[in-house]
Amino acid sequence: MQYEVVLPAAGSGKRMGAGQNKLFLNLLEKPILVHTLEVFEQDSQCTGIWLAVKPEERVFIQDMLERYGITKVKGLPDGGAERQHSVHSCMKEMKQVDIVLVHDAARPFITHDIIANLVRSAHDFGAAIAGVRAKDTMKKVRDGVIEETIDRESLWMIQTPQAFQFDLIVEAEDVAEKVGFLGTDEAMLVERLGHEVHIVESSYENVKMTTQEDLVFGEAILRKRAL
Ligand code: C5P
Repeated sequence: MQYEVVLPAAGSGKRMGAGQNKLFLNLLEKPILVHTLEVFEQDSQCTGIWLAVKPEERVFIQDMLERYGITKVKGLPDGGAERQHSVHSCMKEMKQVDIVLVHDAARPFITHDIIANLVRSAHDFGAAIAGVRAKDTMKKVRDGVIEETIDRESLWMIQTPQAFQFDLIVEAEDVAEKVGFLGTDEAMLVERLGHEVHIVESSYENVKMTTQEDLVFGEAILRKRAL
């Protein structure tokens, strides 16, 4: 089953505090962005990569693609003010495919197995997203006081990739754009259409490189995988 992947890479990474796009930071001597790109470059089901980039970073990223032998990139459109806009800008350039994956460029540890499970589930059900079970006790807090303890059994922490049949994600994005709805992930846009979204159990290693501690964890994962 083939798919194309959208990688939003146009964030500013303020929480990383690196003074540059965090995706250019190295994890064991290779930029985070390259680690992520290599997963899809090497995935036989992936037939195209779309990268949303900041216009001023486009040439730098194009050089990076050449240097690291990334050949599957089909387009590098301008990202937008919010992540959802960056994803949308790739979708607008993409031609009809069976399955679209949306994946944070800042999650370099996604595996081929999880991708394959997502693609299969999106093919069967329309929409499928990666997630892991909540490990900690979860409470709802208002003004510093516990309001409610939420039953952990039903709680999942959601990651990317999020996989969709092409027509479904196009419709969901169009509707969101028309009414000005901004979600924190693509699945929310599909949920708003009343369409069910399936969960695929992912890995706790599929972390998003967000703050400095994540870099330490990220390098530890790479070292473990190299053993
Ligand atoms: O900031 P955060 O890590 O949550 O962003 C997730 C992904 O979305 C990152 O890969 C980032 O580069 C991308 N992004 C984007 N356009 C934005 C904001 C974030 O492409 N306006």
